[in-house]
Amino acid sequence: MWDWLWKRRPSNCLSVQELQALAPALVQLQGHPDQHWQGERSLLDALDKADAPVRSSCRSGNCGACVAYLESGEVGYTKEVTFPLERGEILMCSCVPLSTIRIRLPDKPVGARRNKH
Ligand code: FES
Repeated sequence: MWDWLWKRRPSNCLSVQELQALAPALVQLQGHPDQHWQGERSLLDALDKADAPVRSSCRSGNCGACVAYLESGEVGYTKEVTFPLERGEILMCSCVPLSTIRIRLPDKPVGARRNKH
């Protein structure tokens, strides 16, 4: 299940062993029904599977289209990201929940807005 990680895991990200040890996690998405992460590659994959209204583009941590605001809980990254995150932001394409998390989606895409400055 985690074979893809052996090729991609940078040293500052979760190890394969850490990922394999993670328990399913509740994802509370403000204004939407609760969802669950159950071992998907990323939080974004889990929310996509549940038809949650999330944005994405590169799915590799570069564009910022999948930015969400982490209001409580903790996430860990599965790959190195290059998009410049600000305090409280997470990239859903590149992280997984380490606990029950509560997130809020931005009204407008953060990546496009930040690239204009
Ligand atoms: S989809 Fe591009 S950073 Fe997540």
